[in-house]
Amino acid sequence: MTKIIGFVQLKGGVGRSTLATNMAGTIAEHARVALIDCDSPQFTCSHWLQQRKDLYEIDEQLDLYQPATYKALLKLLQKLQNEYDYIVIDCPPRMDGFSRVALMLSDLVLLPLGTSAAEIWSVEAMLPILNEASQLNSNLDARILWNRFRSYTKSAKENSSTAKKDLKLPEMRQKIGLRVAYSDAMADGLTVHETNDKSARAEIWSLSSSVLRLLSKQKAARKMNDDKVLSFAKKS
Ligand SMILES: Nc1ncnc2c1ncn2[C@@H]1O[C@H](COP(=O)(O)OP(=O)(O)OP(=O)(O)O)[C@@H](O)[C@H]1O
Ligand SMILES: [Mg+2]
Repeated sequence: MTKIIGFVQLKGGVGRSTLATNMAGTIAEHARVALIDCDSPQFTCSHWLQQRKDLYEIDEQLDLYQPATYKALLKLLQKLQNEYDYIVIDCPPRMDGFSRVALMLSDLVLLPLGTSAAEIWSVEAMLPILNEASQLNSNLDARILWNRFRSYTKSAKENSSTAKKDLKLPEMRQKIGLRVAYSDAMADGLTVHETNDKSARAEIWSLSSSVLRLLSKQKAARKMNDDKVLSFAKKS
């Protein structure tokens, strides 16, 4: 069964596209992956993949899709079921129809989060929507993914422990560091796993392995009624 990973966040610039491209490219080393770019007209993931295809000949099945509407995203997800091992969805920086469809159909939703108060507030604002989605999608596993995390700073430690108390959401064990390798890899059409930055390589590999492990534990087949998805998406 195809597993779906959604990168969702209300706030802009938190690292959705960086982490989605790294996740998609790293998983594609061993599996068939569809990368769905819902962030028009920015299309960061699409630019990344174009760069990748223009500059290198990588033997992988990593295909890009750009649904124009949330209804098209729903249809696309149904069509791609069983054609790929994994689907990675990069959502826009708002809780619109795309993000809502991703919440309804993803097996794992990663919420990239930096340690600034503004980023933490944005996840707080999403909590009612996440709660509603998890009542409708019993498979939904939504987790914080700390990004640009500077473990050596006092504010990162303080803000992450405040977030733990206030948000009460599960977290990925891996915290993604603030590293130039992420912005460089994006510009070059690469994943950090394909760069020389050993720390970045290790953390993205560890994150991908954990994600795959979490997904493999979900045995139940996803059953989702289209009308339910559309009525939840329409609320945006
Ligand atoms: N871990 C990281 N280390 C260093 N730079 C990072 C990291 N994560 C993201 N960035 C940089 O932060 C910026 C925003 O990242 P990205 O575009 O992935 O965020 P986004 O949530 O997709 O933003 P948008 O709201 O524009 O879609 C980019 O310049 C990216 O290179
Ligand atoms: Mg983006």
